[in-house]
Amino acid sequence: MAIVLETDRLILRRVTDADFDQFVDAWGKGYATEGSRALVDKAFGELGATRVWAGAMAVNAASRRVMEKAGLRFVRLFHADWPCKIPGDEHGDVEYAITREEWLDRRDGPGQ
Ligand SMILES: CC(C)(COP(=O)(O)OP(=O)(O)OC[C@H]1O[C@@H](n2cnc3c(N)ncnc32)[C@H](O)[C@@H]1OP(=O)(O)O)[C@@H](O)C(=O)NCCC(=O)NCCS
Repeated sequence: MAIVLETDRLILRRVTDADFDQFVDAWGKGYATEGSRALVDKAFGELGATRVWAGAMAVNAASRRVMEKAGLRFVRLFHADWPCKIPGDEHGDVEYAITREEWLDRRDGPGQ
């Protein structure tokens, strides 16, 4: 999973393990969760989005956990025809999503 800011558009793109390996020292400190929550809040709070979705390889438990902690829920498992194959592709990819209504409920819910 990667999120790239390009001009005024947020684009998800596929990256290699080498991209992630540059940041090993930063793993497990909550940065991906914090960034993902900020992006979800921006999408609904500033950009007027009605639904936010994210994807990761099915085998990537850490990414799946980050999406859950950002408030997204599992939608589907699918098999995409990626032009560049990487180990784990055979298990497919997962889509997670949150709607504006779910985001509002969470934001305004008990304990918030
Ligand atoms: C996936 C990644 C981006 C997450 O970033 P991060 O800043 O480490 O994420 P956070 O610290 O916000 O949260 C990670 C969560 O995943 C959990 N986690 C990590 N490894 C896990 C595993 N193997 N199985 C299950 N959960 C795992 C952590 O325990 C944490 O959840 P918790 O707070 O409930 O304990 C980062 O770990 C990474 O780059 N990993 C290596 C490469 C990779 O997997 N890239 C994704 C390709 S799609």
